[in-house]
Amino acid sequence: MEKIITVLPGDGIGPEVVASAVKVLQVIGKRFNHTFHLNYAAIGGAAIDQYNNPLPEETIAMCEASDAILLGAVGGPKWDNNPPALRPEKGLLKIRKHFDLFANLRPVKAFPSLLASSPLKREVAENVDLMIVRELTGGLYFGEPRKKTDAGAIDTCVYSREEIERIVENAFELARLRRGKLCSVDKANVLDTSRLWREIVEEKKKQYPDVETEHNLVDSVAMKLITNPGHYDVIVTENLFGDILSDEASVITGSLGVLPSASIRGDNFGLYEPVHGSAPEIAGQGVANPAATILSVAMMLQYSFGLKEEAAEIERAVAAVFEDGYYTADLAQEHTRTLTTEEWTEKVLNEI
Ligand code: NAI
Ligand code: MG
Repeated sequence: MEKIITVLPGDGIGPEVVASAVKVLQVIGKRFNHTFHLNYAAIGGAAIDQYNNPLPEETIAMCEASDAILLGAVGGPKWDNNPPALRPEKGLLKIRKHFDLFANLRPVKAFPSLLASSPLKREVAENVDLMIVRELTGGLYFGEPRKKTDAGAIDTCVYSREEIERIVENAFELARLRRGKLCSVDKANVLDTSRLWREIVEEKKKQYPDVETEHNLVDSVAMKLITNPGHYDVIVTENLFGDILSDEASVITGSLGVLPSASIRGDNFGLYEPVHGSAPEIAGQGVANPAATILSVAMMLQYSFGLKEEAAEIERAVAAVFEDGYYTADLAQEHTRTLTTEEWTEKVLNEI
């Protein structure tokens, strides 16, 4: 198989963790006989410095000519006081919107060897294997009108039927590929957008009789994710709820540094990135945990290229290195060996 991938390293630890993930991709290519062509472009703060634009035309054009995008992270104190249009995260919002990447997939799966770092009791966290499907291009983040004056401010939550239908379908399909359970999260006791959301899930579920479907209010799910996270398989929800719940779910496993994500749109194209940010305070020290970005490459292989065996091999290798007791500094404990980003990546490469 031959694929073109645009690589957007971004800011802070972005370039370091992306370099690791690219090495893994290349080793997978060698072992399974695939050719991955990599093209590099700028996004975020790096793009602001170079082009005075967090998402330059050159970057968009390169992404348009590729089969998938691998992204590090954006942002840092250097750009914190920039006007809104010249902020690194604007590049992220724009790229998702430009490519209509409406579904954000965040798997949260416990690695047994990492559970000591989880704030939850081992017996609560150990069975966690869930996927949050967050709507990414609608809702409060994009709704008009929006306005802020000293006297008051307004944000608007807008969802069209079509926007809800496509994300809900996506989630049903994913549930079917997993354990066949779907939890739709809303605030239907208060919000009209949520009431429409619930109606559409009810309509769609007729096409998926094999999927066990439930509705739950977002405040209740916020509690249950902590008390009984093992209950969930696929969780589907709108943009803001998904943002909050996915950050909440991210602590279950004990480290932000191991969580991958995919942003997809129903065809094979997708953007893959770690859940964490650019961690500016540890950038350039060679200590960042590259696991989240490496696992994002596994998601790319699976969801954009249909390479399931290759994806599983990456997941296996990462788990094996943890099992062997090798960790980066963020996960280090008394009885473990602490490796640099490059050393830890080398272990994964050898494992593959
Ligand atoms: P962060 O995720 O960058 O860092 C949170 C904490 O986790 C820090 O203590 C950091 O050192 C640690 N951490 C994160 N990833 C790590 C890794 N791979 N290995 C080891 N430790 C890791 O979030 P924070 O601190 O809120 O934001 C820092 C910058 O990143 C800000 O400019 C923010 O806007 C940006 N950001 C970017 C995102 C993106 O590009 N998707 C997402 C979240 C934040
Ligand atoms: Mg967030």
